[in-house]
Amino acid sequence: MAQASRDEDAVPDLRPEHSGGFFLSVLTQSLRCPMTLSSSSSLLSPRPSFEPSDALSFHLPAGVTLRGEVASDAAAILDLHEESFGPGRYARTAFRLRETAASLGAFNRVAILDGVLVGSVQFWRLEADGVPGVLLGPLAVDPRWKSAGIGRSLMASSLRQIAEEGDGPVLLVGDAPYYAPLGFQVVAPGRLVLPGPVDPARLLIALDRPAFCGRVNGI
Ligand SMILES: CC(C)(COP(=O)(O)OP(=O)(O)OC[C@H]1O[C@@H](n2cnc3c(N)ncnc32)[C@H](O)[C@@H]1OP(=O)(O)O)[C@@H](O)C(=O)NCCC(=O)NCCS
Repeated sequence: MAQASRDEDAVPDLRPEHSGGFFLSVLTQSLRCPMTLSSSSSLLSPRPSFEPSDALSFHLPAGVTLRGEVASDAAAILDLHEESFGPGRYARTAFRLRETAASLGAFNRVAILDGVLVGSVQFWRLEADGVPGVLLGPLAVDPRWKSAGIGRSLMASSLRQIAEEGDGPVLLVGDAPYYAPLGFQVVAPGRLVLPGPVDPARLLIALDRPAFCGRVNGI
């Protein structure tokens, strides 16, 4: 579907044999970590780029409610992911990160309309050279309810909780114009290395902390 093709499907083929060495150069370049890396205060003092009150500015359609994800949502979420992303999702770098990552289910949200699940956002634990962070994704909304505010409302609700609990930074792979209103910014080139190719313009971070730098793994 159209929205999906604007997201990870739009990532150029950066495998070494297709990328003119780009992928290898990303892996071998030295990381541009800030000088505050060893400062304990940088670990303890998140610099939120998203204010909890921002969550109030996104409106849901009448009848749609948000709640925390529960175990019985699993089948409906799987169906939504299949419809939104198709089988190609398993090859993506974000999926590879999630394979080894623990779910941060307390942050997960679903959107419900008339008892039917129409949206979902999930979160996972990751680290960058030992500094903890959060991976956002997948975010998916039933195409029949596209552009009704559900996607951003789901994210805003979860981000508010993450900000309040000081649990950032939050990383994702996606379209910057869509995620920018929620405080996401493009990660500086060379700062993070993921376990697969990612278009640098689509590697986004919110609730940033300078110490979050280096090789990223799901944990
Ligand atoms: C992308 C997706 C989550 C957006 O959810 P949504 O509930 O339809 O979006 P919202 O209502 O929160 O926001 C709609 C706005 O975002 C814009 N938008 C949606 N997708 C966008 C994108 N990829 N890039 C830029 N803008 C985008 C819409 O044009 C709309 O703008 P407007 O408010 O000015 O009209 C949803 O379309 C979807 O599930 N797509 C397929 C799966 C996917 O790509 N997920 C994201 C990657 S994990």
